[in-house]
Amino acid sequence: MRYLVTGGAGFIGSNTVDELVRRGHSVVVLDDLSSGKEDNLAEIRNKITFIKGSITDIEVVRKAMHEAEYVLHLGARTSVPRSVKDPIDTNKINIEGTLNVLVAAKELKVKRVVFAASSSAYGETPTLPKVETMQPQPISPYGVTKYVGELYGQTFGRCYGLENVSLRYFNIFGPRQDPSSPYSGVLAKFCTAFLEDTKPMVFGDGEQTRDFTYVENAVQANLLACEAPNASGKVFNVGVGERISLNEVLRELGKISGKRIEAKYEPPRDGDIRDSQADISQARECLDYDPQVRFEEGLARTFEWYRATQTRAPAKAEK
Ligand code: UD1
Repeated sequence: MRYLVTGGAGFIGSNTVDELVRRGHSVVVLDDLSSGKEDNLAEIRNKITFIKGSITDIEVVRKAMHEAEYVLHLGARTSVPRSVKDPIDTNKINIEGTLNVLVAAKELKVKRVVFAASSSAYGETPTLPKVETMQPQPISPYGVTKYVGELYGQTFGRCYGLENVSLRYFNIFGPRQDPSSPYSGVLAKFCTAFLEDTKPMVFGDGEQTRDFTYVENAVQANLLACEAPNASGKVFNVGVGERISLNEVLRELGKISGKRIEAKYEPPRDGDIRDSQADISQARECLDYDPQVRFEEGLARTFEWYRATQTRAPAKAEK
């Protein structure tokens, strides 16, 4: 099978590409390297086709999608605070970029587009866990863009018969998540703070919770979503089904690292939701999704990965 992975040089993208290659598929990666890195593909570089380009350029998207059967659309601006600071940029990449991917997929008659949606579409729902039947009420521009991506996918299904599945990721973490941007995911930041003996920064009281999900689980969901029958037009939560507070994460990292490091508490961040936890029964039932790696094990593996790769470039500020 031939797959196009947009954002395939990024964190979740490159982990997905590794697995596709391991299974013997033919893979094209489209990535503008704005946050992804060619290094993430180093081990399989000669087994894939890499195209450096942006999803905002439909000609490039068409070229990359040539003869693809499945499209895993993971290219995006991924940060909530970045979208609060610059909603136009996030809109351009996440909405216009997604529209280009869908238009090209319709023209080129791909079998199915799997879209990296986000739990941030829910916003502050009054009850937990979050179920797909709840009305999304995003509270950040980022959440809006991810929700619109789902709606566009479903609408392309209705208008043009394009098969589509949206996966609402719940805080994916693991090897290759970039720790060096001010907009990086919290676990990447916390792991490297513990390794570098610097104080992790906590926005708020640290009692906010997330359903932290090890990347291998997300990769499993991505691959299942391509071929699962009766899944087209649907939205699925991809998490583990647990919720862990940032303070618990810090305690766990203390155990894993054997270090006592005090965190620095800062005011809460705009656009942040308080709690997040997935109900994954729909994904279990319809996709056969069954997360294999629990939080503690995933965190231990992730910490070990950062420890082993500590020679990486020093932190840089984002434009
Ligand atoms: C994350 C993802 C987003 C995804 C969503 C749902 C990232 C960068 N964002 O958003 O793409 O769609 O989950 O899966 O991966 N925090 C700190 N200190 C830090 C950094 C963050 O306390 O140094 C706090 C934040 O204020 C927030 C929590 O940690 O309360 C999680 O933040 P973050 O890792 O940025 O993830 P989300 O905003 O939940």
